[in-house]
Amino acid sequence: MSPLTLRGLTLRNRLVVAPMCQYSVTGGVIGDYHLVHLGRFALGGFGLVLVEATGVTERGRISHADVGLWTDEQIPGLARVADFLHAEGAAAGIQLSHAGAKASSRRPWDGGGPVTSENARPGEDPWPTVGPSATPVGPGWPTPSELSVDGMTEVREAFVAAARRALTAGFDVVELHAAHGYLLHQFLSPLTNRRTDGYGGTRENRMRFPLEVVEAVRAVWPAGSPLFVRVSSVDGSRDGLTLEDTVAFARELAARGVDAVHTSGGGLGNGWDHPIGYGYQVPFAARVRAEAGVPTVAVGLIVDPHQAEAIVAGGSADLVAIAREAQDDPNFALHAARALTKGAYDDYPVQAGPRLATRDQLLDRIGPWTGPDPVQVEDRSA
Ligand SMILES: Cc1cc2nc3c(=O)[nH]c(=O)nc-3n(C[C@H](O)[C@H](O)[C@H](O)COP(=O)(O)O)c2cc1C
Repeated sequence: MSPLTLRGLTLRNRLVVAPMCQYSVTGGVIGDYHLVHLGRFALGGFGLVLVEATGVTERGRISHADVGLWTDEQIPGLARVADFLHAEGAAAGIQLSHAGAKASSRRPWDGGGPVTSENARPGEDPWPTVGPSATPVGPGWPTPSELSVDGMTEVREAFVAAARRALTAGFDVVELHAAHGYLLHQFLSPLTNRRTDGYGGTRENRMRFPLEVVEAVRAVWPAGSPLFVRVSSVDGSRDGLTLEDTVAFARELAARGVDAVHTSGGGLGNGWDHPIGYGYQVPFAARVRAEAGVPTVAVGLIVDPHQAEAIVAGGSADLVAIAREAQDDPNFALHAARALTKGAYDDYPVQAGPRLATRDQLLDRIGPWTGPDPVQVEDRSA
């Protein structure tokens, strides 16, 4: 897994920790939990660690427990994380998000779906949501208010202000969240965008607001720093966004200085009416990369170092993002490096690698543990 340079940033390898909401903060301010949760991926050898969906406004949060960047008070906690990632050789990225009509949700372990006055935790009342149209994101979801053009300008400026704060916090990469049924995806998808003005109807019109947000953020994000956009390459159902729509969007993103398109999927259209399996979204990354001429990040059930290596070597994507497997094995990138370099510990933190190498020499001498005896020592009398 070779390094990759995007603008002025060189990533030490192609493995990315995908954004993963932890629903574990109060008032959008992160603390020790996130330092440890994210820091272990830097110690684990990943090239780029993306902080989870981070609300650009309080009402744009998915839940009461999201990370936020809508006030300056939220900067120091994130700066502490970015500093730690840098100290351990990883680049620091952050996903900026507005949940739109999917805001005011419950934590997954509380049952997910919208907060209601009946199911709300004490002090965590539901709030009214906004969307491109007064169209719920699915059955059981509340009807959002249609954003006015002034309201859209406020959202756009909130993305810009959050990007500036991310810069102050020391982040190298901003990823704009235009996937998984959240606000920018709601504009892109014909399933949720029923506007009759210049921001709805044709594909060109549905792309207009997301592209305005991209342009505004690119204008304040430093020329030497990469900007990513995460997309749902296809909607869950086949009557929504298609891969052709996403290729067209990706071309426009590339023309506006976006450095990588992170090709996820779904979030609108109830479920997933497409094939599912290991690497099931890799073909999206490959097609966007080939047809829009933009670097891509592949994601989705990538669980093995050789699988990840083949995605890059085969030209399907420039980067490989890992979510659940990274939670299960925060050292995934170190294990991948060993698997692909025949066992060297060179990429391990210096506090661990050399001692593991000498332990291996010992283990080679004494052979594998054969169990169940708790003590098996060398017979030195022979
Ligand atoms: C706990 C958890 C939280 C997630 N939160 C986010 C998020 O904040 N933003 C996002 O774009 N995707 C989010 N996702 C989706 C992942 O980034 C990823 O696309 C998905 O899990 C598929 O990759 P995997 O098979 O490696 O887990 C989340 C996934 C998980 C498991």
